[in-house]
Amino acid sequence: MLEANRLGQGRTVAEVVTIGPPLMMRAVSDLSKKFDVPCVASLNSIMVDATGMCGACMVPVVIDGQMVRKHACIDGPEIDSHIIDWDKFLPRFGQFRAQERTSLEQHGLA
Ligand code: FES
Repeated sequence: MLEANRLGQGRTVAEVVTIGPPLMMRAVSDLSKKFDVPCVASLNSIMVDATGMCGACMVPVVIDGQMVRKHACIDGPEIDSHIIDWDKFLPRFGQFRAQERTSLEQHGLA
């Protein structure tokens, strides 16, 4: 569909919306960027209190060459995926890997 859109054929793709695991959202974002189609990532899954106070939902984005932080709960949860600094954003999802592994081992699941 994106290739047909680029060629001016088929249905027009005005925007892509990606919702799901962060790595998948990045892949969708990267793909849509190659085709110069706007893409929105839904980041509601990273919100905790949704008040703008806990800071759990910080998203590094680049605007006019400057890295700034957005709150998914205040500025989103849908955020332009093409401005997200995915290299800075994704490592957070492995933050508790050691604890997750320990928990799996303690419950005989690893
Ligand atoms: S969810 Fe806590 S600051 Fe956004």
